[in-house]
Amino acid sequence: MDQRARSLRQYAARDNLAARQGVYRWQEDPVDLPAVAADLLRDVRGAVLDIGCGPGRHTAHLRAHRPDLRVIPMDLSASMAGEARADVCALPLRTASVDAALAMHMLYHAPDIPAAIAELRRVIRPGGVLVAATNGHDDKPELDALWTDSVRELTGAPPPPLFREPRRFTVDDGPVLRAAFAEVEVVRYERPVLIPDADAVIAYVDSIRDGMDLPAGLDWSAFIEVAAARVRHTIARDGVFRLTGRFGVFACR
Ligand SMILES: C[S@@+](CC[C@H](N)C(=O)[O-])C[C@H]1O[C@@H](n2cnc3c(N)ncnc32)[C@H](O)[C@@H]1O
Repeated sequence: MDQRARSLRQYAARDNLAARQGVYRWQEDPVDLPAVAADLLRDVRGAVLDIGCGPGRHTAHLRAHRPDLRVIPMDLSASMAGEARADVCALPLRTASVDAALAMHMLYHAPDIPAAIAELRRVIRPGGVLVAATNGHDDKPELDALWTDSVRELTGAPPPPLFREPRRFTVDDGPVLRAAFAEVEVVRYERPVLIPDADAVIAYVDSIRDGMDLPAGLDWSAFIEVAAARVRHTIARDGVFRLTGRFGVFACR
């Protein structure tokens, strides 16, 4: 399946994203990403594009705390809060027409990541800033272990590695940004998410289904049943299911 079709399928409704974002209520020493992004925009005046805006939490934060900015939310999916539907690889904006852009946890969905970054460079005026958040390559390794153990239990054979879309563009991909931006800085975070609610973990795992090409012959509902039993066992034993969140935020000028 091509990447654009995969994104449209995955975000046809908001429930997949809500299941994933919902677990962050259990993040230790929480990182308030909308506040981090707003702080990186402190010297910006004028127009700010929020591409891949999703349900609009960054746009809402900026509108509440920076009413002087003109925030323009856009998203590929009609189910999200964008004021226009747009693909990050072909933005309906004039060259140098915005003072900054947010691309928060979305560049890994772009059909062509270098083209998306070049397109963002095109619409941001010289001297403007791109703020982009993404995950580490080693984000939530517990999901890979759950996948491997559950599929092995189900089929008796080791499965192919879990396809994790966010690994298409990670905090280690500064060089891809440097092809378009002279200055690229990244701040990295590591925060455990300690989840006491098995249903929340299972909803998270189930939410990545639409982003995947399943190995031939694998029955997703059978996989979820086995994975759910493992999650429940871990929570009964340890009180929580741990996901080690590793992520970061780029500021590019
Ligand atoms: C993980 S969500 C992030 C939402 C929001 N930025 C946030 O941080 O809460 C990714 C969003 O990117 C959008 N998206 C996926 N592919 C896209 C593309 N090629 N162009 C624009 N938006 C895209 C999805 O529809 C979804 O709303």
